Amino acid sequence: MLTNIILSLPPIILLGYLANRFIFRGASCKSKNRLDSKVAIVTGSNCGIGFETALDLAKRGATVILACRDRKKAEDAVEKIKMEKASAKVYFEELDLSDKESIKNFSDRIKNKYKRLDILINNAGLLSSAYRETKDGFESQFGVMHLGHFYLTYLLIDLLKSSRQSRIINVSSNAHRFCSIKWDDIMFKNNYKSFRVYQQAKLANILFTLELKKRYENDGITAVSLHPGFVKTEINRHFTEKLGLRTVLFAFFYPFYLLGSMDAKYGAQTTIHCAVADEIIQENGLYYSNCKPAKCSGQAMDENSSKRLWDLSLKLLKIE
Ligand SMILES: *[C@@H]1O[C@H](CO)[C@@H](O)[C@H](O)[C@H]1NC(C)=O
Ligand SMILES: *[C@@H]1O[C@H](CO)[C@@H](O)[C@H](O)[C@H]1NC(C)=O
Ligand SMILES: *[C@@H]1O[C@H](CO)[C@@H](O)[C@H](O)[C@H]1NC(C)=O
Repeated sequence: MLTNIILSLPPIILLGYLANRFIFRGASCKSKNRLDSKVAIVTGSNCGIGFETALDLAKRGATVILACRDRKKAEDAVEKIKMEKASAKVYFEELDLSDKESIKNFSDRIKNKYKRLDILINNAGLLSSAYRETKDGFESQFGVMHLGHFYLTYLLIDLLKSSRQSRIINVSSNAHRFCSIKWDDIMFKNNYKSFRVYQQAKLANILFTLELKKRYENDGITAVSLHPGFVKTEINRHFTEKLGLRTVLFAFFYPFYLLGSMDAKYGAQTTIHCAVADEIIQENGLYYSNCKPAKCSGQAMDENSSKRLWDLSLKLLKIE
């Protein structure tokens, strides 16, 4: 039995490697558009996809704001970007998406410092293996990935409206499939299932996009969501912190995961495409994967759910 497992490893690893090289790498953003004079915010941009996205936008001449919680890591990221492009206009602004007050302070500072906002990339993610609450008492994954970004977008919407042809980009995931919103216990207070909560938050991102499109397309705002691909990121660190069966499985699959997944640089391509390509403006409200429009689940296209989620989010965040 054990021998069989060991013998099967090399071919699996080879397959994983080939898939990584030739399949998972995915499409690249082809647009050469410059972003001089444009202002972009990328949440969760001190590493991974967010970092690669910020770097690319900065190279195209945009003013890029790294909206992150960890000052030290974000300042290192600013340095790294400046090493690649000394004249990059890249700045750190502190933002803790798990804290309403921090989001409010952040948006106030942005509105004071910048007269426009062309691109808002809601990228920050979180995978948590246990039930935790944010400062405002929301379950952490739903609180950060959905409610935090909802509130941020809400506070910045006037600035986005005033900059013509602005874009809101939600980094979702194919993980949104096979899932629906658990309306009767949206925070999963009873019977916490971490991945299910992650999936729900990613579905919420798409529903949010749908509703944003409906509400703001006449204001010159384009809203899209996307699947970045199967990417190596730091997101797993929360997943593995609690020792248990999950950790053992994770350890076993880790080599395949490393080989089969792509580097953040490739994982950022669809996000970059949505931020810069011309055709996005005509394709408002869509879901992207591999730098082109893709199908999302039926649940994610349900306009009743998107309306209901919007109203519930306003209520939870105590706005209006
Ligand atoms: C928000 O700004 C206020 C006023 O400057 C400050 O007192 C408060 O500590 C800030 N809160 C957070 C979470 O950054
Ligand atoms: C992005 O996701 C957030 C949180 O789910 C949502 O509030 C927002 O409307 C979404 N925006 C877009 C463009 O999808
Ligand atoms: C959405 O809501 C309307 C009105 O309540 C209802 O008639 C319709 O069947 C619902 N659609 C879906 C897909 O649930």
